[in-house]
Amino acid sequence: MTMQAIGKPHSRVDGRAKVTGGARYAAEFNQPDQLYAVVVGSTVGLGRILRIDAGAVAQMPGVRAVISHLNAPRLAYQPHKGGTDPANGERLHVLQDDQVRFYGQPVAVIVADSLDHAERAAAALAVSYAGETPVVDPLDAKVQPVAPQAGRAGADRSRGDADAAFAAAPVTVEASFDMARENHTPMEPHATIAAWSGDRLTLWSKSQFVVNEQAEIAAIFGMPAANVQVICPFVGGGFGTSLRTWPHVTLAAIAARQVGRPVKLVLTRRQMFHTTGHRPRTLQRVALGATTDGRLTSLIHEGSGETSRYEQFVEALTSTSGFMYSCPNVRTRYRLLPMDTGTPTFMRGPGEASGMYAVESAIDELSYKLGIDPVELRRRNEPAIDEAEKLPFSSRSLMQCYALGAERFGWASRDPRPRAMRDGRLLIGWGVASASYPCFFSPASARVRLLADGSAEVEAASSDMGPGTYTSMTQVAAETLSLPLDKVRFSLGRSDFPATPSHGGSQTMSSVGSAVRAACLAVQAELAKRAVADRRSQLFGASIDSVEWREGRLSRKGDAAAGPSYSELVTGAGGSPVEAGASAARDAAIAKQYSMHAFGAVFVEVSVDPDLGLVRLRRAVGAYGAGRIVNPKLATSQCIGGMVGGLGMALMERTALDPRDGRPVNAHMGDYLVPVNLDVPHLEAHFVEEQDPHVNPLGVKGLGEVALVGMAPAIANAVFHATGKRVRELPIRIENLLDV
Ligand code: MOS
Repeated sequence: MTMQAIGKPHSRVDGRAKVTGGARYAAEFNQPDQLYAVVVGSTVGLGRILRIDAGAVAQMPGVRAVISHLNAPRLAYQPHKGGTDPANGERLHVLQDDQVRFYGQPVAVIVADSLDHAERAAAALAVSYAGETPVVDPLDAKVQPVAPQAGRAGADRSRGDADAAFAAAPVTVEASFDMARENHTPMEPHATIAAWSGDRLTLWSKSQFVVNEQAEIAAIFGMPAANVQVICPFVGGGFGTSLRTWPHVTLAAIAARQVGRPVKLVLTRRQMFHTTGHRPRTLQRVALGATTDGRLTSLIHEGSGETSRYEQFVEALTSTSGFMYSCPNVRTRYRLLPMDTGTPTFMRGPGEASGMYAVESAIDELSYKLGIDPVELRRRNEPAIDEAEKLPFSSRSLMQCYALGAERFGWASRDPRPRAMRDGRLLIGWGVASASYPCFFSPASARVRLLADGSAEVEAASSDMGPGTYTSMTQVAAETLSLPLDKVRFSLGRSDFPATPSHGGSQTMSSVGSAVRAACLAVQAELAKRAVADRRSQLFGASIDSVEWREGRLSRKGDAAAGPSYSELVTGAGGSPVEAGASAARDAAIAKQYSMHAFGAVFVEVSVDPDLGLVRLRRAVGAYGAGRIVNPKLATSQCIGGMVGGLGMALMERTALDPRDGRPVNAHMGDYLVPVNLDVPHLEAHFVEEQDPHVNPLGVKGLGEVALVGMAPAIANAVFHATGKRVRELPIRIENLLDV
């Protein structure tokens, strides 16, 4: 019985629970005697609160509390930076003063005996302000770019002399790009139910990082982390918006303490455009120099992104530019644009998706200038090593991705001339772009219990926002223990489970997976240790080195006879579960020896209606080199999801701000456009065979981000191929193409 749970296209172990309503999301953990909280947001984008007329509202039906900076408790707000909090600056202190820093900032919270009563009171609450006009447009002359303080991701880098090489290059491209602000818009809204029991707080809260939410709320309230429990077994989409703990979680806890009852707080869709982060709008300039046969001689990538005035949100906007291409002269520069806005946060492919949109668009422009096929141009500039770090890649399959993708897409039959391909009156465009994302591996831990019935229970704090973590971790445990999948029960989403890193940055499979594997090996070691020491065991007296696990049985090495099973061993040891925990982390020495990234190549076909300017994605093929694929079915699903996100970025998503007050004017699903089923054509994801022994013990690279990264530039490049018009802003809209 060889299990081989890893690598098989198992369906989601939690699929049935999800489609039958058995999976419970944060807002569904209703508590006895629960009250309802509604947040009141500022209606000015900058200024000061002058007056809050709480009195009238407090008399409205069902209202139990009206909490604002006038009566909110002064909270400790002890220093705390989780891995997903900006390193520089200080988080918003909610209801602690009269200052308004951005539109929609919470200024009060109403608690009532029903959602309806709370909403009515929130709508009636009169707040007056001394308002000023906020600066919310990165192009506003009042915006002063600043270099991010300390931190590798934001640092300017240079090798050779990129400016001189650009000036001397026989062929050049220089272009500027403007990418819109985006909001994550997951299906599940942010929600928290807070319940105090004495000085202990339980939060059923939507989170991609439960152990950080525990630590953050403990720091805000100045209490021991052990007194805070965060529970979140299911996340209905996150894409990064639930990595940080935003003010509404604090508000729910304040409210629950004030009224002495559990309180439920669910943000409205509109409020999710105010205080829960966004992908920053970016302005970029790319300058490329090349020889006439298409060798890059200069690559300059300058970019800037929005941030708030109180925190520096830094993302990896320029970081791939140093290693995607072989080029002797490279210069990158990254600046932040502090404005009167809430702090942005990580959104799927954070930095890479925006930065590679600009560079991959410029490379495409260069391919037309040179008259070289864009795939061939990339082949000519494929580096042997990471030239920025001067390190070999742990593995890099970008050219294999191009070969596989081109073959599946049928790239060879492309007519390279713009406007040359048609379908009736529609212009057809084929475009391509590269994708890359780092392979992170952060310290993680897990715990395994073997039960007398021969099954295993596995626990790690973690989250599963959709990639299928429940399933993939079950597979890792089943494989390591040689158990069938249905003998493994994996649990996650509790802050009292063994700590794991943020469920973001495509690092869950690598980090938590490695920890689960380590914990399974640890529990086997524990069981073996007990077996050889147990007089009643047939292995009594054997040295620990002379036994081994074979297909779930502890056997003597060299002895073909199968030894006792887990069930027999646990039962023999008295029947109580045998438990072990373990941690996993990247070997620091290996981290210094290799540059570790996932790569991908994305091919798309669009049609453009020349009369209406309407762009439609017709098909897409993504090919990825992402190490070992634990579950091809889930991996495909995740890649398709990422491609849909990239489609939104390319053609639809844009949070528009009113310059008068910073109000997101399209803060609802009617006007903030995301792809719906009818927008999504046939999408294919393929994986190249890639064995990478360096990235982590499982050899996995992560898929969540890389799958979004190349999509937008591939679509923008296809729009150029279809129309001959280069649009250098996202999303590409009808008005950009009315003249084609
Ligand atoms: Mo994703 S931005 O790493 O949640």
